[in-house]
Amino acid sequence: MSKKNITVRSLLEMKSAVEKICVLTSYDASFTRLIEDAGVEVILVGDSLGMVIQGQESTLPVTLDEMIYHTRNAARAREYSLLVADMPFMSYRSPSLAMESAGRLMKEGGAHMVKLEGGTPQLEAIRQLASQGIPVCGHLGLLPQSVHKLGGYRVQGREQRDASLIREDARLLQDAGVDMLVLECVPDQLAAQVATELSIPVIGIGAGPDCDGQVLVLYDMLGINPHPPRFVKNFLQSGRTIQEALKAYVDAVKSGDFPTAEHSFK
Ligand code: KIV
Repeated sequence: MSKKNITVRSLLEMKSAVEKICVLTSYDASFTRLIEDAGVEVILVGDSLGMVIQGQESTLPVTLDEMIYHTRNAARAREYSLLVADMPFMSYRSPSLAMESAGRLMKEGGAHMVKLEGGTPQLEAIRQLASQGIPVCGHLGLLPQSVHKLGGYRVQGREQRDASLIREDARLLQDAGVDMLVLECVPDQLAAQVATELSIPVIGIGAGPDCDGQVLVLYDMLGINPHPPRFVKNFLQSGRTIQEALKAYVDAVKSGDFPTAEHSFK
């Protein structure tokens, strides 16, 4: 089936039209093909591959070369979706390093957009990436690359002060030039506020039903993570095939049936 190429512009149009954006992680060519066939608009080659592919305890050990390898594999199968690649831990610790890492993910990996974690400390890198025409996705709330600083994988933004900081960071990221924002593990009301306040698409993961789109880690929604986070739903139930599970995810996101209160935080 040939579909319209998804671009930064089409994602903005989907936000304006209040059409939910479907995002899923993929790390190889075979799943990328199945995920696209199911109708997912954005494919994220996440550094979650450190855990689900490599069996590491966190995303921290993932290298830029490994991200490029997996992005290139996904890029070979991608036909119309927007391909986003995570910038791994320490690959954007200065604006010039961020430029070099993003350049490699795009030139060697075939990514259309790069994603990096954090707010204020990343603003200068984001400005420089945007000035070179590199689309950027921000990531706020639970930052897996900062797991040791955060003291674990915990919900962020429950205190008033933390919630205000996340809202302020989101606005600063948008002003610096990010084209999309992932909000991870924050109370649903805070995510709804951020999605309303920003003009760019806000994609939630454990962030309630009112974001402009949803993302999950592929292996979590296929139920093959033995310790899934609470916000995950296993779509590979009831004797479904993998293709049916992917389609069920897309349908549930588009119709607003996923996530429910059960998969959200207060
Ligand atoms: O690495 C990843 O898969 C991610 C998602 C959890 C958003 O960043």
